[in-house]
Amino acid sequence: MKIVVAVTGASGAIYAKRLIDQLHQQKVDLSIVASTNARQIMQEECGVDLNKCPGTLFDDKKFVAPFLSGSNIFDAMVVVPCSMGTLGRIAHGISDSVITRGADVFLKEKRKLILVPRETPMHLIHFENMAKLAQAGADIIPAMPSFYSKPASIEELVDTVLARILDHLKLNGIEQRRWKP
Ligand SMILES: Cc1cc2nc3c(=O)[nH]c(=O)nc-3n(C[C@H](O)[C@H](O)[C@H](O)COP(=O)(O)O)c2cc1C
Repeated sequence: MKIVVAVTGASGAIYAKRLIDQLHQQKVDLSIVASTNARQIMQEECGVDLNKCPGTLFDDKKFVAPFLSGSNIFDAMVVVPCSMGTLGRIAHGISDSVITRGADVFLKEKRKLILVPRETPMHLIHFENMAKLAQAGADIIPAMPSFYSKPASIEELVDTVLARILDHLKLNGIEQRRWKP
């Protein structure tokens, strides 16, 4: 599988870090792109330098990445965590960076685009932008962990969201306790 992981400057860099590690373990052909803010937040929240992560790293400001053209076939793009700024730009077709152009390509080619927004509280414009993107075909998987599996660590809590992302990518990998009545 060829997957793009785009990281933006919302809080929750650990979601991106664990997804990247998980996809790498599963031998996915992995492209990574991070905004300038994302690099800083990844460093601050996780102490991780994205340059040292597995996968091929692309610069958000340089328009050089294979997935920027619909003629190159990719399976999915995940924007995680997705800031409201990036989400708004994607919703309005403002393709001014590798991340926003990439998302635009996945939408126009009807390929899987998963957005993992993280913000609280939200206002009307956030909701309208998410509604627009859902109508255009994006999967919105908010970074809202669940608790019914009784997560015992931050990693286990984060993995409750990761498991849902992997479900939408049709991949396994995280032992998740599925809710049963
Ligand atoms: C410490 C910090 C935490 C932030 N957390 C969030 C967040 O959780 N959600 C969000 O939408 N924006 C958040 N922001 C704001 C974004 O970083 C900001 O809107 C930025 O312009 C997004 O740019 P990008 O989407 O290109 O990374 C945060 C900013 C800082 C400095």
